[in-house]
Amino acid sequence: MELERILHRSGFGTRRACRALIRHGRVTVNGEACDNPFADVDTADLVFTVDGQPWPYRETATLMLHKPAGYECSRKPQHHPSILTLLPAPLRERDVQPIGRLDEETTGLLLITDDGKLNHALSSPKRKVAKVYLATTRYPVDAAQIETLLAGVVLHDDPQPVRAAAAEVTADGRLRLTITEGKYHQVKRMVAAAGNRVEALHRVALGDLTLPADLQPGAWRWLDAADLAKLGCPS
Ligand code: URA
Repeated sequence: MELERILHRSGFGTRRACRALIRHGRVTVNGEACDNPFADVDTADLVFTVDGQPWPYRETATLMLHKPAGYECSRKPQHHPSILTLLPAPLRERDVQPIGRLDEETTGLLLITDDGKLNHALSSPKRKVAKVYLATTRYPVDAAQIETLLAGVVLHDDPQPVRAAAAEVTADGRLRLTITEGKYHQVKRMVAAAGNRVEALHRVALGDLTLPADLQPGAWRWLDAADLAKLGCPS
C-alpha cells in the first residue's frame, strides 16, 4: 500500500497532510527513513514512526482502556471529559467508539474500536458476553443478597427478571458480580433491588479478557488476536 495511504488510514490526517509529513522527513518505515509518499510498503507487521512515535499499521483499530473515574463514555460529554481525550489524536481521528458504556465514576476495562461489526457483535445481547464487576457496597453483602442476585431481580424498565451469572463476596468484602446483559446502570440497579447500594464499581473482565494488572488508569493498549479470541471473536 502507498505510504501516504497507510498514514491516512491510520488517522494522520488528509492525504495531503500525510504527504507533507512524509516529504518533510518525519516518517520512518520499519526503522528506515522514507520521504516518498508513493513508496509501496508491505503492511504485514508494519511499524512506522511519525516524529519518532512508533505506530503499528492496523486495518481496524481495537484497543482496551483502563477507564479512570471522572470520564464519560460519550463523544459529546456533558459534565466530564470524554474517554476519547485519553487517546492519541490519530485514534480519535479514526472515529473509534466505546463498545458499551461505563458510568462516569465506574473504572476498569473498556474496549474501544472503529470496527463497526465487532462493536455490534460484542454489544449484541444474543452473544451474552460475560461482564465481570467488583462492587464496593455501602453495607456488607449477605447470603440473602447473593441469593437474590442469582435468582433474578426485576428492574423497572423490563418485566423479565435479570439474573447474575455469578455473584460472590471477595476476600476484601467486595461483591464480584458477573452479568451477561448491558442494561443502563444494571449493576447499581440490581444491587439496589437486592437491598444494598453500590458505592464504587470497577470492571475487571469481559469474557475471558481481564484488565491487565500493569495497565494503569488512563492507559490503553492495542488488542491482539489472542485478546479477541478471549472475547470469542477470532480475528
Ligand atoms: N452497571 C452499572 O451500574 N454501571 C456501569 O458503569 C456498568 C454496569
